[in-house]
Amino acid sequence: MKRFILATFPIKSKTVFLRVDYNVPIKDGIVLDNHKIIASLPTINFLLGNNCKIILATHLGKPAGNVVPELRVDPIAKELSLLLKRKVIKLNDCIGAEIKEKIDNSKAKILMLENLRFYKDEEQNSPAFAHSLADLANVYVNDAFAVCHRKHASVEAITHFLPSLPGLLIEKEIFFLNKALKPKKPAVWIMGGAKLNKVDLIKQALKKADNILIGGALCFAFMKAKGIKVGMSKVDSNSVKIAQKVLRKWSADKIILPIDFMIAEKLSPSAESKIVRYNKIGPQQIALDIGPQTIALFKKKLTNSKTIIWNGPLGYFEWAKFAQGTKEIGRHLGKIKAIKIAGGGETAEAIHKFHLAHNLTHLSTGGGATLTYLAKQKMPGIDALENNYKKYKN
Ligand code: 3PG
Repeated sequence: MKRFILATFPIKSKTVFLRVDYNVPIKDGIVLDNHKIIASLPTINFLLGNNCKIILATHLGKPAGNVVPELRVDPIAKELSLLLKRKVIKLNDCIGAEIKEKIDNSKAKILMLENLRFYKDEEQNSPAFAHSLADLANVYVNDAFAVCHRKHASVEAITHFLPSLPGLLIEKEIFFLNKALKPKKPAVWIMGGAKLNKVDLIKQALKKADNILIGGALCFAFMKAKGIKVGMSKVDSNSVKIAQKVLRKWSADKIILPIDFMIAEKLSPSAESKIVRYNKIGPQQIALDIGPQTIALFKKKLTNSKTIIWNGPLGYFEWAKFAQGTKEIGRHLGKIKAIKIAGGGETAEAIHKFHLAHNLTHLSTGGGATLTYLAKQKMPGIDALENNYKKYKN
């Protein structure tokens, strides 16, 4: 499906509504992780280079339609201003005559609206709210890949009122994630993480991958489905049912489960830990990381692959004792010549924590959005850009 392209679109000197995803962790007014902000800089610089006036808009957290002072976006505007080394004017609302007047009268090139989710209309995809947002600019650029799985007013409804196109980050995300969906073979998916609601993603992995290496809490559902005892390790009955279904598929022999674990006697960063075989986890023990034999096995499976997709840490990486699996596999990726793509909120957190991003071809900025895209489910934000192209191309 076609979309407008920033490089060829007549964007010079336009006022651009730029939807970004700056949903970043903030503590005491300080942005703790600015990777999503950095990822938007190429589009911002492109627009500045074309003499555009930029109206930036993001959501932050889940204020559910209320004005929550801690979720104001001022710290983000400050961080962006530091990164760009130029002034970013932060506005105290998103819509209305006063905001429009401020934008029209301002000589500044970058103005940032208040948190979009202070209006419940944002998450309700309200056409009236979207119309008021659209009224602030003459072109809409969406560079918020991480929220494109949401049918929200600043992501979907707004495209009904303005010519709309993706920013450079969205194009980059689509380019690389498509490489995961049409992989060079052999393809290996690494799957882990604490969240077990990844059925559609596992179904895609079964179709696209030659091997699926499973760690994290995800593996316990599969082990339990096979009748292997997992002690007190994290698992829920619904995931076990799903795992049972997956294991009945002919392609289930692609799934490779851990052969040993680092276990703890209690859930604590300083708990006594030891290595046990996969079928020797005691009733009171908690498996918190894959063991050394599994790390070696996973490395071997990865070595000759041409495409690697990684979603989900392989252990409880927040605690140093149980971070070995995630760290070692991440380091090993640096030695492999393949297309290496990682995505998902926890995965990105682990990759940044252990400084592994340089070992990857692409680290997606999406959490839920990346999983949705890879699972081939609907992405309203991207569909909207394609529909807009049909409407405005002539
Ligand atoms: C994310 O952080 O994954 C995106 O910003 C989407 O946030 P949401 O899950 O609150 O919609």
